[in-house]
Amino acid sequence: MDELRIGIIGVGWPGQRHIEGYQKHPNARIVALSDMNVATAEQVKAQYDVEGATVYGDYHDLLASDEVDAVSICTPNFLHAPMAIDALDAGKHVLLEKPLSNTLADGERLAARVAQSPDQRFMIAFNNRYRPDSIVLKRQIDAGELGDIYYAKTGWLRGAAEFSLRGWFTQKNRSGGGPLIDLGVHMLDLALWFMGNPRPVSVSGSVYQAFSDQMRASTGGDVDVEDLATAFIKLDNGATIVLDVSWMSHIEEGDLVYSQLFGTKGGAKIERNYGGAAGRAERMTINTTSGSGADRATLVSQPTLRNTQASEPMFMLHESFRGEVADFVDSVLAGREPGATITHALDILRVLDGIYRSAESGRETILDAQMAPDVATAAD
Ligand SMILES: NC(=O)c1ccc[n+]([C@@H]2O[C@H](COP(=O)([O-])OP(=O)(O)OC[C@H]3O[C@@H](n4cnc5c(N)ncnc54)[C@H](O)[C@@H]3O)[C@@H](O)[C@H]2O)c1
Repeated sequence: MDELRIGIIGVGWPGQRHIEGYQKHPNARIVALSDMNVATAEQVKAQYDVEGATVYGDYHDLLASDEVDAVSICTPNFLHAPMAIDALDAGKHVLLEKPLSNTLADGERLAARVAQSPDQRFMIAFNNRYRPDSIVLKRQIDAGELGDIYYAKTGWLRGAAEFSLRGWFTQKNRSGGGPLIDLGVHMLDLALWFMGNPRPVSVSGSVYQAFSDQMRASTGGDVDVEDLATAFIKLDNGATIVLDVSWMSHIEEGDLVYSQLFGTKGGAKIERNYGGAAGRAERMTINTTSGSGADRATLVSQPTLRNTQASEPMFMLHESFRGEVADFVDSVLAGREPGATITHALDILRVLDGIYRSAESGRETILDAQMAPDVATAAD
């Protein structure tokens, strides 16, 4: 196979980013679009000039088509596991938006189904790994610049004025939770990936609903999820992660996203903020402390990235989707595992579920006793 024929299920904002990614890949062709809102799918087809693609209202019809080799599933969280299982049953390769599922039980069901079809590729859409700044830092880590990373501090915090979510996002039975499952999933994946994917063994967390009234007023609907979560996560190599996430909080920035790594030879921080009083900035620093005097802190700057970013708005974001989609297409065509596997996605879902359980019980949640074996290995 030298061309992968793609179907997109759900053509909202992330579905459109996937479309742009496939359109930039020389060996991918979008042949089908599906959305329960057919008018939206037709409008997206015209807007992105997806020539020749068939539009389906029911995704089952898209899955029944022999013209489709692989699908991107970009629908609300509660549809992830059932749709991905249907797609695997129909023989398709699957790129699934985060999180794996809104519930751990459904996530485990999907992981078991993925393990049954080792020749079908399954990838979870952790696009933040494919940001150019993440890639540069990961290369430095793999080259040993930071030594062993024993602590990571990471978060995605939104200011009180930024909230604009609607519908299923604020309903736990359909989303699985608030900012923890929505934004925390990205930051946990990045931290674990930077650290070499150690397995989480225990979590302790708290969740807060300080802005429920504002969220209800804004959505005009039900709100039963947290607006802020914080957690302490222990990993099987002795390292730890501290996480904080919010959809609404009293911070200076509109949107503050950060990953800070503490290694035996060096440290690193990627930080970006948008909006709010703090303005807009994206920066990455890598500091090594092996020298002395002025050499003690070495700032690794990325002038090439900065120049490109300045000339192309949202460069990092668009690159992240292009790189993610390219990894998926290339992994299918080469018959290799993609970067972000079902094992990574399930480990993170266990952590998220463990944090919610810890918040409810007031105790630490132990994960190791119930930790699944590496799913990809189990399939072999
Ligand atoms: N990676 C990222 O940066 C990123 C960003 C935003 C959202 N997401 C993820 O993408 C997913 C979708 O988020 P969203 O904000 O686009 O949600 P959304 O509610 O806008 O839904 C996306 C699309 O799916 C369609 N849809 C809903 N039910 C369907 C069905 N049964 N069959 C076919 N289409 C259906 C909707 O009509 C809509 O066009 C979520 O899981 C979210 O976590 C990821």
